[in-house]
Amino acid sequence: MDAALADILTGAWATLTRGAADRRSPVHTPVIASIGTSTGSDATPDARVMVLRHVDPAAATLRFHTDARSPKCRDLDGRPVAVLAYHPGQAVQLRLHGRARIVTQGPEADAAWAASTPFARRCYLAEHPPGTPLPAPGSGLPADVEGLKPSEARLLQARPHFALLLVTIHHIDWLHLAQTGHRRARFEAADGWRGRWLVP
Ligand SMILES: Cc1cc2nc3c(=O)[nH]c(=O)nc-3n(C[C@H](O)[C@H](O)[C@H](O)COP(=O)(O)O)c2cc1C
Repeated sequence: MDAALADILTGAWATLTRGAADRRSPVHTPVIASIGTSTGSDATPDARVMVLRHVDPAAATLRFHTDARSPKCRDLDGRPVAVLAYHPGQAVQLRLHGRARIVTQGPEADAAWAASTPFARRCYLAEHPPGTPLPAPGSGLPADVEGLKPSEARLLQARPHFALLLVTIHHIDWLHLAQTGHRRARFEAADGWRGRWLVP
């Protein structure tokens, strides 16, 4: 890989890492795309915004948090996933492809749960899975925690619903828009990373 490509790859991982740490970064809320299984057909695409929680460039993984009962978990666990982010300041689009894993137990899930705020953990107290029909507008939260910070004891009841979505990236498509000429590169993970230039 030439030096310019190596710099772009390093920069892409730095943008993602900053995106996880900085809630004002546009990369903080990428789009996660999946192939649906809920209709019984593999042909239904779906996509949703999620908060990027952590990035490990060395392991090429991204971490998100979600409700283990949500339909996306079924669509994503052990399956291909695309992650899309656009950074307007850099005029850079990142299209990442990888494989997803849903993790509900173990030290990594426990640590992420412990590091989440009480209000973030409260979401997982919802009585029914995300996407369940409601008779009227509502949060889905039980009445005793609506609008309140739940006690630690109450929040423990939400822990079984908390899941990590871990994405291991194997391709990165980087696109930079510029009046002087757009640039595009594609990186592939194979015993380290390989990169090449593409027509934008
Ligand atoms: C700014 C923003 C951030 C969001 N962050 C998350 C998140 O971190 N985890 C999550 O599960 N859903 C998040 N959502 C909600 C999802 O986009 C989606 O509506 C929900 O998870 C249900 O998705 P599903 O039906 O595909 O399972 C976020 C939505 C927005 C608008």
